Amino acid sequence: MKNGLTLFVGAFAVIGLSSVAVLFSAHNQFGGLTQYKDPVEETLHPAPLSGIADRGRLVYQDLGCISCHTQQVRRDGFGSDIARQWGVRQSVARDYIRERTVFLGSNRLGPDLRNVAARPYADAEYFYKLLYAPQSVAPGTNMPSYDFLFDVRPIRPGQPSPHALQLSGKYAPPAGHEVVPTARATAMVAYLRSLNDSYEYPEAQPFVPAVKQGGGH
Ligand code: HEC
Repeated sequence: MKNGLTLFVGAFAVIGLSSVAVLFSAHNQFGGLTQYKDPVEETLHPAPLSGIADRGRLVYQDLGCISCHTQQVRRDGFGSDIARQWGVRQSVARDYIRERTVFLGSNRLGPDLRNVAARPYADAEYFYKLLYAPQSVAPGTNMPSYDFLFDVRPIRPGQPSPHALQLSGKYAPPAGHEVVPTARATAMVAYLRSLNDSYEYPEAQPFVPAVKQGGGH
């Protein structure tokens, strides 16, 4: 074939240039996103993750929680996420700028976790119990136990841990023992408690099509 080389170089150039264009336009649109400064309060959003919450993010990644949980709230009309009270608004790109790996997820065996810290019942004790013995706070759930993130140890005489979980019935440890979160559990719970995207960015407002002014023909 006489023009084989030209054809090859041409095809390579077309594929190469279009890939670069896709990368460049995505970077142009999202790569430059920074924190948003509230014009009245002068606060920056999203707030950076604390060091311990950032370590918890790695534990979340490590344990594969993404296999059952998403972290993206779809807007009204694209799913029932807001009606299910998984968030007060749709997720936007700016919500994720503080995370190096974004855990959007695609399977929802459990609820979306993007705003789990905003749920009224979601205090630290709830998260610890859910990780140690999911059935103790959500009877009948499919959520697996992550009890390896806790130490079950004999109570030191006169020095019970202030961090021991308050468990009763069949979830309670053997007599004279206590269940204490390890550093990984503490970091994970700090991360879960940081998941709260309720700040209303201008770009998160629902899209309202402009109404044409004046009469038509
Ligand atoms: C096999 C699937 C599965 C895996 C893996 C899983 N979960 Fe869950 N999770 C669930 C289900 C189902 C529920 C719903 C519990 C209920 O019935 O209320 C849930 C509930 C939760 C909730 C409470 C949500 C709410 O709205 O109150 C949190 C927090 C949570 N999971 C965190 C995690 C974390 C962190 C991990 C990883 C360490 C994880 N899950 C792994 C299935 C899973």
